[in-house]
Amino acid sequence: MSMKILVTGGAGYIGSHTCLQLLRAGHDVVVVDNLVNAQEEAMRRVQTLAGREFAFYPFDVCDDNMLDKVFSEHSFDGVIHFAGLKAVGESVSIPLRYYSNNLVSTMTLCRVMDRHNVKRLIFSSSATVYQPGSPMPVNEEAALGCTNPYGWTKFMGEQILRDIAAADPEWSIVLLRYFNPIGADASGMIGEDPSGIPNNLMPYITQTALGRLAQLSVFGDDYDTPDGTGVRDYIHVVDLAQGHMDALNYAARNTGSVAINLGTGVGYSVLDIVHAFEKVNGVKVPYQIAPRRPGDVAAVYADPRRAKELLGWQAEKGLEDMCRDSWRWQSMNPKGYAAE
Ligand code: NAD
Ligand code: UD1
Repeated sequence: MSMKILVTGGAGYIGSHTCLQLLRAGHDVVVVDNLVNAQEEAMRRVQTLAGREFAFYPFDVCDDNMLDKVFSEHSFDGVIHFAGLKAVGESVSIPLRYYSNNLVSTMTLCRVMDRHNVKRLIFSSSATVYQPGSPMPVNEEAALGCTNPYGWTKFMGEQILRDIAAADPEWSIVLLRYFNPIGADASGMIGEDPSGIPNNLMPYITQTALGRLAQLSVFGDDYDTPDGTGVRDYIHVVDLAQGHMDALNYAARNTGSVAINLGTGVGYSVLDIVHAFEKVNGVKVPYQIAPRRPGDVAAVYADPRRAKELLGWQAEKGLEDMCRDSWRWQSMNPKGYAAE
């Protein structure tokens, strides 16, 4: 059955891939994104790839009046809420900006949804809500607790949504806890386009392979992991997008709230990623071993069983796909969307 979905933050990295997947599956999307961390060009490319147009509203989700207008103009079957700020370091230096943006947007959205009787919501949470030191693989029952304001906005966002679902049994809310999304659509037309010097591993690798950055710093080689470098659960963004479609279908059949990990269940080290990237793409990624990055832990990877059980979802793509698709996007768009 075809659905009409409001996608907040739909111009961003995960949002643009999810919009494309929804359109390809025959659903309709409407995007609200204030472009604080995205380019409108991403939306044009999604329309080109899908061969279909959709409504795009460039405003802030914290704006109740504007959001109300969108809900008056369209009749939605559900909402995917990607909009949010996500830079961990910046959240430590400007905490108020993070708490305001990420929490006010979520509360405003829920208020407007409630007013228009749209009560199906998929929320972008993160593996960062799990207490550091949790045993791995980590399942959804593990203790929660964060180390930075960004993480706390996800923790608090989850709590607000659980309370809303508990107070009104008509709500259906899925809290998706993403592990480390990388990769891009196989077309190479859309992908991750961080502003400035990347904080995350894969964009740092692709920009180093391009020659835009001199070399990768591997943050620590003395962790208690097989090769000493940090281990994470990297997940292809196309698999992640599919997880959102499956979550929408789940929300159409169930009420209440539930947290679900979206990860592969497999951990790879920093050097696994570097070596796979070099091999698959036939390029060099110069690197040096550097001190540990403050706040990092040795290993984080998911227990993905609940996603399989409740959503019928599991990751399909492997490390080679992730490395190949990340590089195709970066090499076809050396300056990201900026060149347009
Ligand atoms: P992104 O920055 O590419 O996308 C977020 C989008 O939201 C951007 O397009 C931005 O312009 C928009 N936005 C931010 N605040 C807004 C507001 N108030 N009103 C309207 N638009 C707003 O990030 P992403 O990687 O695509 O992440 C999407 C979501 O998933 C975020 O909530 C993020 O915190 C969460 N998440 C991301 C990761 C990751 O590694 N990428 C991991 C876990 C969770
Ligand atoms: C980081 C955030 C996390 C957020 C996630 C997705 C921190 C502490 N955590 O997770 O909250 O949800 O991004 O946005 O910032 N690495 C290097 N060199 C680099 C970059 C990274 O060696 O230049 C290593 C890291 O030490 C880590 C791995 O690569 O072991 C992955 O790092 P990254 O991509 O930043 O993701 P996380 O730290 O897992």
